[in-house]
Amino acid sequence: MNCVFLTGATGFVGTETLARLLERPEREVVALVRAPDAAGARERLLDVLERLGLEEEAGRVHAVAGDVTTPGLGLTDAERYALADRLDAVVHCAASVSFSLGLRESRAINVDGTRRVVELALQAPGLERFVHVSTAYVAGTRPGSFAEDDLDHGHAFRNPYEQSKWEAESLVRRHRELPLTVVRPSIVVGDSQTGWTSAFNVLYHPLQAYARGLVDTIPADPDSIVDVVPVDYVADGILAALEAPEPPATLALVAGEHAPRLVELTDAAARYFDRPPPALEGEPPDGLEAFLPYFTVATAFDDANARALGLQAPRIEEYFDRLMDFAVASRWGKRPAARPSVTARTSPAA
Ligand SMILES: NC(=O)c1ccc[n+]([C@@H]2O[C@H](COP(=O)([O-])OP(=O)(O)OC[C@H]3O[C@@H](n4cnc5c(N)ncnc54)[C@H](OP(=O)(O)O)[C@@H]3O)[C@@H](O)[C@H]2O)c1
Repeated sequence: MNCVFLTGATGFVGTETLARLLERPEREVVALVRAPDAAGARERLLDVLERLGLEEEAGRVHAVAGDVTTPGLGLTDAERYALADRLDAVVHCAASVSFSLGLRESRAINVDGTRRVVELALQAPGLERFVHVSTAYVAGTRPGSFAEDDLDHGHAFRNPYEQSKWEAESLVRRHRELPLTVVRPSIVVGDSQTGWTSAFNVLYHPLQAYARGLVDTIPADPDSIVDVVPVDYVADGILAALEAPEPPATLALVAGEHAPRLVELTDAAARYFDRPPPALEGEPPDGLEAFLPYFTVATAFDDANARALGLQAPRIEEYFDRLMDFAVASRWGKRPAARPSVTARTSPAA
C-alpha cells in the first residue's frame, strides 16, 4: 500500500498522521489541502513538513488544492481520475471540529465532505483501505457502555458537531463495498511522550482558564467520564487500521476502562498549578459554555477491537504533567513549537 490520500493533513490529527505515514520509507502521500491553487497547497504542506522537521521527505508528499465542500473536492475531472488511479488507501481526517457551528455548516463539511471523499475512493481501482476518522462521541448523550459495534440508538447529541459526525459515519458505513475501518478517537490531547500539540482546543480551554485563576466553580458531575487520548496513540490506531492484515470495521481509540473521572482531572490540575481545585457546582465560568456538556458524560467507551490489535492508550496520569509543561512553555499556543523529531521519540505505550 504505497500511495495514501490524506485529508486534513494541516490539522492536529492529520499532521501527526502525516508524520507517521512518512516514517514508512516506501510511502507516498497525496494530501488534499485548502488553498487557491496548487502552489498555495504545496506551500501549506511544506509549512507542515517544516513544523514536523520532515522537510527532507518533501519528495514523497504531494499536495492537491481542494475543498471537501466543493463538488468533486474542487478537483478537475482529469485530476480526480489521475488521483483515483494511483491511490491505494484513503485516510479521511478533514472535518470541522467546532462545537458552535450550526448543523447546516457542520453537515456541509463533515457529511457532504465525507460523501465526496467516498465518491473519489469508489473510483479507485486499487483501493485497499479506507480509514474514516470519526469520534467516540457519535455516542452522543447515551449513558452506559458504548461498544464499537454500537451506532444507532436513536440517541441525542450535545451539539451539531456530534450529530454531523454520526451522520458521516452512518453514510460511510452504508458503502459496504468500501474496505472500511472507522476509527473513533475520544478527546485528543498532545503527545504522551513530549506533550507536543498543535491544537489547544477542547480540554485545553478549561485547563487554561483554570490555570489563569478564572475557574473557581464549574457545574459538573465529579464522576463524569472524561475520556482522553494522546495524539500519538490516535496516530498508532490510524496506522494500525491501514496496516493490520484484517482490521476490524471499527476501532475505538479511547482510554476506555482507564478513562479518568472528572474529579481526578481537576485534582491533577490543582496539583500541577498549585491552586485549590474548582468547586464542581455553581456558576459556569464565562466562555466555557460549549464545553460544559462534556463534564456530565456518562458514557463508557468499549475498545475491545483496539485491544485485540494490541492497542492500549496510556493512562492520563502518566503523561498529564508533560501535557501541561508543553502547554505552559508554549503559552497555550501563542508561542507555537515544532514537533520533536520522530527519531527522538520513544515508542508509544501501545
Ligand atoms: N481533536 C479531537 O479531540 C478529536 C476527537 C475525536 C475525533 N476527532 C476527529 O479527528 C479529525 C481531525 O480533527 P482535528 O482535531 O485534527 O481537527 P483540526 O485540527 O481542526 O483539523 C481539521 C482539518 O480538516 C481540514 N478541513 C476543514 N475543512 C475542510 C474543507 N472544507 N476542505 C478540506 N479540508 C478541510 C482543515 O484544513 P485547514 O487547515 O484548511 O483548516 C484541517 O486540516 C476530525 O475528523 C475530527 O472529527 C478529533
